Order: sequence, then structure tokens, then C-alpha cells
Amino acid sequence: MSSQVKYILDEESIPTHWYNIEADLSKNTPPPVDPSTGEYMDPAKLEAIFARGAIEQEISRERYIEIPQPVREIMRQWRPSPLYRARRLEKALGTPARIYYKYEGVSPSGSHKSNSAVAQAFENKRAGTKKITTETGAGQWGSALAQACNIFGIECKVYMVRCSYDQKPYRKAMMEVFGATTIPSPSPYTEAGRAILAKDPNCRGSLGIAISEAVEDAVKNSDTKYCLGSVLNHVLLHQTVIGQEALKQMEMANDYPDIVIGACGGGSNFAGIAFPFIGEFLRGGKKADILGVEPAACPSLTKGKYAYDFGDVAKMTPMLKMYTLGSSFIPPAVHAGGLRYHGMAPQISNVAAQGLMRARTVQQLDVFRDAVFFARAEGITPAPESAHAITAALDEARKCTETGESKAILFNLSGHGHLDMAAYIDYFAGKLKNYEYPQEEIAMALSCLPVCGK
Ligand SMILES: Cc1ncc(COP(=O)(O)O)c(C=O)c1O
Repeated sequence: MSSQVKYILDEESIPTHWYNIEADLSKNTPPPVDPSTGEYMDPAKLEAIFARGAIEQEISRERYIEIPQPVREIMRQWRPSPLYRARRLEKALGTPARIYYKYEGVSPSGSHKSNSAVAQAFENKRAGTKKITTETGAGQWGSALAQACNIFGIECKVYMVRCSYDQKPYRKAMMEVFGATTIPSPSPYTEAGRAILAKDPNCRGSLGIAISEAVEDAVKNSDTKYCLGSVLNHVLLHQTVIGQEALKQMEMANDYPDIVIGACGGGSNFAGIAFPFIGEFLRGGKKADILGVEPAACPSLTKGKYAYDFGDVAKMTPMLKMYTLGSSFIPPAVHAGGLRYHGMAPQISNVAAQGLMRARTVQQLDVFRDAVFFARAEGITPAPESAHAITAALDEARKCTETGESKAILFNLSGHGHLDMAAYIDYFAGKLKNYEYPQEEIAMALSCLPVCGK
């Protein structure tokens, strides 16, 4: 019997193309709507804030889109990422399940976010962009983009969600190491930020608010473009290197996953691992059970409404058709800051609406209990966001223990938690709590959904 633990591909096996699920879906993802006209957005208008290359990727229906050579050269540093068979974890659980995890914590920023950061910074360099603004929740995206901008000599300004800014000072320091400026959001420097602070000077912030500030900054400055760390088609596209590698690595392991699991914030790491497997199925291949996991405190896929909504609080973005909790919903300050987004990526929402995946929620205390259990077995301390996938994977493995089934479970370990230790300190001190589904706040936010004729 094989006792192999890690499945490693060589650098020549880095995918040469991104996989675009749009080519295989029977119903295409509804395009964004321009709030000023109520019609589908003219992609040319997006050039006010995005690089042209990113827009072309956003609207493409090609199945495979070539990854520019310079992006592939940079990704050599951490790609292909390892796939692990979690043998010590299986033993600790006493499960007959075969558990695999794809580990994205090996990138310079410590998460999958570098995969898209480099691709987006490259397209901006190509477009002659001098400055980039962005939002960040936990700081993983901000630090990935800061590093990528540093590679290409582009200035980077990051609006960081206030509660994460306070919880994770080392992420801020890391962004500064790469020469970026970090501003706690809501800030007094934008109209959007000032409007929120006027109503609530102690506002803990949200990704939706930070996006408004970063977009406003880009709209008002002609030398500045905006980058988003999740949600949009092109960001999900960039992450498909994860699942494409995992397909090859599962083949090396002579196995195929019965279940594929990922944590869902805006949806990029989940899409990264899941879309290539869904694509296999849509093209007549094997079917895996695809499971997205979100926090009970911010349950967009499981409790949201599938409707057109704004991507940000100040309603500056185009309207996106997505499962949403309402763009004004400010989620409780759970430690998984990267999962505090009111909506789910339009492509994932479309995939979910077509019944090609399922979703569930998990509670913060279970997530930290399982993160610690995983770390003690496998030696990797996970990011709180990634640990949502761990809880779901452990639950599936525990079910196998009960039924005696030996399923192959694959999950995406999207990042390490080395700069999230304050969350672990709070967990051990008994300071963390579960959050109930904030029903009233969500009902209020959903009652303000924009009217959209599409
Ligand atoms: C490590 C990690 N995993 C997951 C996420 C969630 O984002 P997404 O759903 O886009 O993968 C984040 C976001 O910050 C993150 O930092």
C-alpha cells in the first residue's frame, strides 16, 4: 500500500491556460447591469476603472485563455503548489475516508490571492497604469497585490476593513514592506467613507465599504485603476490553476475526489479548486459532490436572494446577479475577515442556481476547534477563512467513520494563518463566540435591493 504524502508537479506542469467555466455552462452567467441605464453594462465603460486585459478576460467565453508568459514566470516561485494526502489527520480521526488538501499557503503572500494579484498587476502594467487601489478584508489580498505591484513598479493603495486593520497589524506591516499604503476603512478620505463615518463613527467596516472607497479613489484619479480580489469572472478565472493542478495530482495519487470543498468569501479560491472539476463533469467526465462553505454570520449562498445587487455599499459598482444579503449588510466581525462579503461571485451563484454545487454554513467556534485539530495533526496552522473548508471536510470524514464508507475528500487549504495568531489567542482565551444568523439586519438590507428590470 502506498504511503505517499505529497504529490508534487514540476514547474513545466504549471498550467499554460486558465480554465473558463463559461464555455461549458448550458446557461451563461448573467452579465453586469449599468445602474445608470438599466441595461447590460457596455464593457468599454469598465475601462474607467479596470485594465483592458482584465475586461477581455471578464467577458470571454473561450474555454481556455492563455496565461501570459511573464505571469507564468513569476508563478514559478510557488506553483505548482503541493497536494497533500492528510494521512496523520485521517489517523487522528480514525476515518476510512481518504483526505487530500491542496495547499496555497506556499505563495509569497501565504494564500491563493497571489495567483490573481500577479495576473492583475501584469495587465495593469501592460495598460500603463501608475497607481492601483484595492480593498482587503483580512489583508491576504492586500498583501498579495502589494507584492505584485512591487514586482511591476506600480504604486498600491489598500483600503483595509477597519476591524481587520485592528485585528491584524502584521498584515498592514507586510503591505508596507512591499511599499503599499494601507488605510483603515471607512476612512475620512473618500465621500463614501465620510458618509458612513457620519452615521457611525465606530463603524467596524466591511468589504462592501472598502470596495466603495477604492473604486471612488480610482474613478476620481485618471492615473489610477482598481483591482478586486474576488467575485468577478476574471479573478475566479485566475484561480483555476489550483483545480487544474489538483486534477493532475489526484491522477498521480491514482484517485478521484468524491467531494471537493472550498471556503467561500467572494468565491475565488472555491472556484479555483471547484470549477475545473465541474468542467470535467460538464464535458461528460466524472461527477464530484461540490461543496462551498460559508460562515453562519454571513450566509450569502445559503440564505441570500438570487438577484441583481450592487457589489459595494455606496452603490458605485455595476449591478451583479448574485446570491446577496443586500449591499448595505455589515456582517458581524468574525475573525475570518476575508469571508465578510455580502454577495457571492456571479459565476458561483449561477453554478449554484443550476444545481451544480451545494453550500452549507459553519460556526466560528467549530471552525477554530477544527483548525487546531488539523494543525496538531498536519502541522500547518490554517488561515481562519481556509479553516471553514476544514470543518466541512472533517464533518464529511466523520460521516465516513459512522457509515464505514471510504470517500475521497479534497479541500482547498487556501492559506496559512501565521499572521492571524491574534484570532487563535482570542480563541484559546475563550473570547470568540458564535454568531447567530443576523436575520433582522439581513431582512432590512434585502428590502433595499435595487430595482432591476433584467
Ligand atoms: C486565505 C483566504 N481564504 C479564503 C478567502 C476568501 O476569499 P475568496 O472567497 O475570494 O477565496 C480569503 C479572503 O481574504 C483568504 O484570505
